[in-house]
Amino acid sequence: MNMNDNIQIPVLAAPLQGVTDNVWRIAQHDVFGGVDAYYAPFMRVEHSEVRRKDLRDVDPERNTGTTLIPQILACQPDHALMMVDALKQMGYTRIDINLGCPFPPIALHRKGSGMLAYPDLAEALFQALATVDGVQWSVKMRLGWDRNDQWRDILPLLDIIKPVNIAVHPRTGKQQYKGDLDVGQFEALLAASPWPVIYNGSLRTVEDIENTIQRYPTLAAVMVGSGLAANPGMLAPGATPADYRRFHDLLVDGYTEQLNGGEAQLVRHLQDIWQTFLPGTAHKLFKAIRKSRTLDQYQNAAAAALADVENALSDKPEDENQDVLF
Ligand SMILES: Cc1cc2nc3c(=O)[nH]c(=O)nc-3n(C[C@H](O)[C@H](O)[C@H](O)COP(=O)(O)O)c2cc1C
Repeated sequence: MNMNDNIQIPVLAAPLQGVTDNVWRIAQHDVFGGVDAYYAPFMRVEHSEVRRKDLRDVDPERNTGTTLIPQILACQPDHALMMVDALKQMGYTRIDINLGCPFPPIALHRKGSGMLAYPDLAEALFQALATVDGVQWSVKMRLGWDRNDQWRDILPLLDIIKPVNIAVHPRTGKQQYKGDLDVGQFEALLAASPWPVIYNGSLRTVEDIENTIQRYPTLAAVMVGSGLAANPGMLAPGATPADYRRFHDLLVDGYTEQLNGGEAQLVRHLQDIWQTFLPGTAHKLFKAIRKSRTLDQYQNAAAAALADVENALSDKPEDENQDVLF
């Protein structure tokens, strides 16, 4: 199933808004692989329309060769149904429902993880979705919004949509991405869930995945987010520096083609990639990337950082690596 012999369950790529778009997904798939399915970052309705940018991202023509699970984020049932309709027209029969986004402007509008504190709203949303034919649902959620046991009120409601699985990040929405993962509540949820459960949280290496599977043998799958964004080759044993250069080239080519705001926008976008990509990059190399103003300057700075990729990928602090030659 996976290129790593000890991983016998699917490995899914988590959606990261602003990072794991179609360009990133295709590059990760073509160069490194190891991902069984990719979740698209959530789509939403704005000004009574499904955002065009979101529709473009999941356009099957821009996602060839990958298994893609589109995701919707909504509080209002009519908004959810608009997105589902658009996705069905593109041929999708499997849609994920976002009950996990912790970003306050979203969660405070009772969307994403915010909805976990309002079971009545979740119920209304599920009732509307249950009227749709020909779609299988999954849910990506947290333990709760402001309490770590709010999942207990949500779980029984899932019977309305009978999800194929639920992916759980063991934090509350209020915690955002900080603080301890709540192992105790995750275990309680795993034991109580009649739906197959996917674990999602802080998996950064193949070893992390193996340990998690060993610890929770009933998991249906694992999902990797920031670990894979940091090291898109994390699932590919034997990935070489040339692979990382090729991955980066594919990003540059893809964004050159897809962004149409000129060179400055392209450079800003490429610089943004380094907020999550190769966080072990030496400070001075990272600074050169941030300071670049033209595509040429950016390419030179990125080439220097990529020449040092093995250093960036080793977990050792910079000083310890000074004598290491690659
Ligand atoms: C910048 C950023 C964007 C994210 N966008 C989404 C999203 O669109 N949909 C979603 O369900 N989760 C989103 N998440 C949450 C991740 O999918 C994942 O659940 C979270 O990062 C925890 O997993 P990890 O520790 O493997 O990164 C986002 C997280 C980050 C940091």
